Amino acid sequence: MQSGSWPIAALTSLASAADLNVPACPATATASFNQAIPDLAPCPQTTVDLCYTSTALNLVFTAYGETNFYFDPSQTTNGDIWAYEVMEAFIYKGTDNPQTYFEYEVSPNNVTYNAFIFNPSRTRAAGTPFDHAFVSNPFGDGFKVTTALDKPNNKWISTSSIPLALFNAENPKGTNWRMNFFRTVTGPTTYPDQQLCGWKNTNAMNFHITPFFGTVAFV
Ligand SMILES: *[C@@H]1O[C@H](CO)[C@@H](O)[C@H](O)[C@H]1NC(C)=O
Repeated sequence: MQSGSWPIAALTSLASAADLNVPACPATATASFNQAIPDLAPCPQTTVDLCYTSTALNLVFTAYGETNFYFDPSQTTNGDIWAYEVMEAFIYKGTDNPQTYFEYEVSPNNVTYNAFIFNPSRTRAAGTPFDHAFVSNPFGDGFKVTTALDKPNNKWISTSSIPLALFNAENPKGTNWRMNFFRTVTGPTTYPDQQLCGWKNTNAMNFHITPFFGTVAFV
């Protein structure tokens, strides 16, 4: 081996070892899933297309196979939209199993949930602290969202943008992250029961198990 050649090889293998390599916009990388948590039963197809700019992480969530478009119209920003139908991203800048991370959700009604989650057990273990710190003015902070329902094609799409300053991560090329993506499925005949769908199986009816978050590299 030539001395001096291995650091580049090591960097390359680090990036390619990630579950998802997110490029600078307008290119995108897609996280795709169609299985339930934790039993791997069929879930409607869900995709999340990601890319970054110097100041934002952009995510396009697409829910296929949607039949209910189910939400509570009285709910507003940071309401309990997770009890109905949402698509979600759990986001952490770093490589370890996080105890604090950002939870972002969007509903078919274009309502978002924006909170840092404090989960020191990393598993939301019974009898341990579990808390939320809401971002109270997301649109003032530079978050963006638009949501389009395509009922004839059983599909809804939310295009979201989250400021990277939230993670001290502007100009993020070369950074490494942990993330998971989820979708809840319910409707008027099944509510409050939900089907839980996810990118990385947490092996429990519980999204908040951080050792199972996927690895994401911004390349
Ligand atoms: C969704 O919400 C955002 C933030 O309030 C708004 O800018 C956008 O116009 C809304 N409507 C749709 C259809 O996306």
